[in-house]
Order: sequence, then structure tokens, then C-alpha cells
Amino acid sequence: MTGADINDARAQVANLVKFDILTETQVDDNEKQRQQIARSFISDTVTVPTREMYEYAVLASLGDDVYQEPSTIALEAHMAKLTGKEAALFMPSGTMSNQIALRSHLKQPPYSVLCDYRAHINKYEAGGTAFHSGAHTIPVIPSNAHHLTLEDIQNFVVTGSDLHSAPTEVIEIENTLNGSIFPQDEIIRISEYARSQDIKMHLDGARIWHVAAETGIPLKELVDPFDSVSLCFSKGLGAPVGSCLVGSKALITRARWFRKLFGGGMRQIGILSGSAAYALTYNFPKLVAVHALARKLEQGLAALGVEITGAAETCMVFYDPEPVGVTYGEIAERGSKLPNPLQLGASRLVVHLQTSEAAVDDLINVVRELAEEKKAAGFVRQEKSEQGLGKYKDIYVRKP
Ligand SMILES: Cc1ncc(COP(=O)(O)O)c(C=O)c1O
Repeated sequence: MTGADINDARAQVANLVKFDILTETQVDDNEKQRQQIARSFISDTVTVPTREMYEYAVLASLGDDVYQEPSTIALEAHMAKLTGKEAALFMPSGTMSNQIALRSHLKQPPYSVLCDYRAHINKYEAGGTAFHSGAHTIPVIPSNAHHLTLEDIQNFVVTGSDLHSAPTEVIEIENTLNGSIFPQDEIIRISEYARSQDIKMHLDGARIWHVAAETGIPLKELVDPFDSVSLCFSKGLGAPVGSCLVGSKALITRARWFRKLFGGGMRQIGILSGSAAYALTYNFPKLVAVHALARKLEQGLAALGVEITGAAETCMVFYDPEPVGVTYGEIAERGSKLPNPLQLGASRLVVHLQTSEAAVDDLINVVRELAEEKKAAGFVRQEKSEQGLGKYKDIYVRKP
């Protein structure tokens, strides 16, 4: 090949490689997406970085985090201080953060991890506790239908040396869990018991921010009873990516090793740490207003006769529209047909820092309209005892 030929060949290769990801309508599409996010009640993971967040984040340092990137190290030091732990580690996701925490605590099976049956580690981490740590999970149903108590845990925890069982080495708690706040005095009772049995305590604090914002209890106090805590930046706080695991120096040293092993050692992540720092400074203070908006939604729905099945203690409301004769499907469908559509799942409604108040008003109006239509079409409230139609005192049934 001549010099000219190789240059041609190289130019052709470069031509095949290049790719412009931005569409012609990108700016408008992004704006539309922001509007959709303001009307999505699906999750707080839909929150997106703002221009201001990115403007701040691109100023972060440019190091390689496998070799201790300066902005990320600074963020980790802040997180350790904020939570009163010795050390912290930036993680790509909440799932990896929980799984590496468990993996770092657990050394040699047989062993078990006890948690609430609704816990993220039990239901939504693809069986990672068994896969990564070879641990048996003991999912417990809280007797009060809200949070685990020490007595619930004592009924199921495995201690002693019976060969047939896998001793419990970690008790895992999630706070908030489905938006509800775990009473701190109960956490303290559980942790005192755990310590007496040499059992470690891990907190999935993906949304612990909401507890601190709502109760005014400092994070340090909230997480003091735990040996390790995972906190997420990319949910209610609105950062694009990232979580942080905090704990003792020894635990975090081990976790850093496992993060590399899991393929989670990242390179130039200053921009992610910068986004997280921005979220801590500017978005955390907004959570109080987010909770107030969630309560407005709860009150609006309750006033229509809808059953509230999970109170808006922070950013989530769980509801059942059956008492007004309406189904989740009808609400989602009607919401999706509005000129500015609403995005809805079923029983869970999540309010986040980018939810607009207009979206909350529109959702309440959709349910009101549907309930009125049902009533006009012949649905009447009826005592459940007369009809035996479920758990409601007041429900709608079709007129004979
Ligand atoms: C309570 C809780 N923990 C952990 C996670 C996992 O976070 P990620 O999606 O970043 O893996 C989630 C995700 O929504 C969550 O809700």
C-alpha cells in the first residue's frame, strides 16, 4: 500500500466509526421529555439532570477513579463525614452498592440475610444476594404491615449452631421502604439486639434522604445503628448516576476491591461526583416541598373517596380507586389521553422534585371525573357488609 492508499483506508475506517447521536429534533425532544417527566408518577428514578447541574458537574476534576479521582475522593470524604462513618465509596448503582455491602460483610457460607419481604434486595436485585454472596435470604412480613419490629425479627432470625439452618449474619433494613419512614427507636432496638448476637446491620438508604428531610433528624443519627449504609444520588435527589456505600475503613477497603471485581471500577467520573454534589446542595432542600405535594395528592384522592393504602409519609402514595368504582387501568388510560398526558402505573404514585403541581391537580381531576361518570352510569356506594364485596366500608356497585 502506498502512503496515499493507507491514508484513504484510514479515512474510510474513520468514516465507518463516526456516529452523531444527536437527532435533528434533539433539543425539542429533550424539552418534551422534561415535560413528560414532570407528569410521570412512575418513579423518582425518572428525574433528570438539569442544565445547571451539568454546568457545575463539568467543572469537577478529570482524574481516573480507579486511581482515586480527586473530586470523587472529596465527595466520598464528605459522605463519610455526613454519615459519621470512617469511609465511603462511590458506586455506579444502588443495586451494586447493596450487593457489595452484603458481599463485603459475608465471608463464608452457610449464612443468611434477614430483611423485610418487600425489600429491594429481596425482590428487585435479580437474586443477587444468592448469586454474589451465596447467602440464603429470610424475607419477613412485618406484623404491623408497616415496618419490621424486633419481635418480628426474633421470630425468624437464625442463631445458634443447628446444622440444618443458615445462621443470620446480616439484618437488612430499608428506609424509606415504599416511601414509609422506619421508626428510629425500633431501629435502635433491633441494632442493640443484632450487636448482642454479633449480627451486622446494613441499611438500604436509597431514600434515607427523605427521612432526614422530613423528620429533621441528622443523617448521622439515622444511620448510626448500621455497620454499612447505601445512599442513592440518582433517585429523589435527581443526579443522573450513582450511589455511595459508607462504613468502617476495613469494610470500605474490602468493598473497593469487590467493586473492581464486579467491574464497577470507573474512570473519569468527576462529572458524576459533581452531579451528586450539586444534588446534595440544591436538590436535597427541595424534598420537603416534594413531600408536601405528595400529601396534597393523598388528600385530594382521599377526599374523592379513594382508599389510601399507603400514606404519603414522604414521596409516595399508595391508593386503591375501587371504592369509587374505578380501576387503575381506567385512570392510566384517561391520564394518557389528556392534552398533556400523565404517566401512571397502578397502586403506587411517586412524586419527585420534577413533578409539577399541575400534574397532581390533573391526576386528582381525572379520578374525580371517572368517579362522577361511574356514579352517573349507575354505581352507588354500598356497605360492604351487605354485599360482601371486599374490605371497604363504602364501595360502589352497579344498581340492580
Ligand atoms: C430502595 C431501593 N434500593 C436500591 C435500589 C437500586 O438502585 P439502582 O436502580 O441504582 O440499582 C432501588 C431502585 O429503585 C431502590 O428503590
